[in-house]
Amino acid sequence: MNIIKANNYDDMSRKAANIISAQVILKPDCVLGLATGSSPLGLYSHLVERYQQGDLDFSHTKSVNLDEYLGLTHDNPQSYYYFMNENLFRKINIVPENTHIPDGTAADADKACADYEKTIQSLGGVDLQLLGLGNNGHIGFNEPETPFEQTTHCVDLTESTIQANSRFFDKLEDVPTQACTMGIKSIMMARKILIIVSGKGKADIVHKAFFGPVTTSVPASVLQLHPDVTLVADAEALSLCPL
Ligand code: F6R
Repeated sequence: MNIIKANNYDDMSRKAANIISAQVILKPDCVLGLATGSSPLGLYSHLVERYQQGDLDFSHTKSVNLDEYLGLTHDNPQSYYYFMNENLFRKINIVPENTHIPDGTAADADKACADYEKTIQSLGGVDLQLLGLGNNGHIGFNEPETPFEQTTHCVDLTESTIQANSRFFDKLEDVPTQACTMGIKSIMMARKILIIVSGKGKADIVHKAFFGPVTTSVPASVLQLHPDVTLVADAEALSLCPL
């Protein structure tokens, strides 16, 4: 694993944007795996800025997102569909038809998950998968004890994840309790993985995930088995790691 230490959140975002930019420049028709949450916001701003400056062209790039809440429509500001459009897609020249997000409104959620996995495969797999790290070690919405061999599937979110996500909602009761997520196997099949982490609050889980045993109780620990992972984390997030 390649570990890149950043000074702070913005430095992490810039360094991670360098890696995604290199991917898009070297393979303009690449498939990017994308994430939502607070970790990638700065990185997306950097990509938008570079696009506006004429340094990046996303017209041939394709994307697949990691996950989506079940039950939120596209126009719901808390849906990941809305998040991606607001923070990235509508600000760059990616073709809307080339962007893919699990359908959280499908009548048959299990079928929608299975179809999503087929979509990833039909695109030829993910070239570079961006991840954030959950406080409990989740990646995507693969909560602790999720079997490593699962592909895209529906999940019940844990109390810890519902609590963590409640910061984006008016009331705790508004936070969806289920989601559709790429599975750990779907994530591990990406050719390259980029995981970004910042802040003191994640120091303990970063240490467990990347320096502890590989175990389903810390889903991100599986990344230790992937041949091409880059962790870009700030000094606070790396403060408990023996570097
Ligand atoms: C988001 C996702 C989640 C987040 C994780 C960290 O699409 O799949 O795994 O990456 O919960 O969230 P933040 O970045 O908000 O701390």
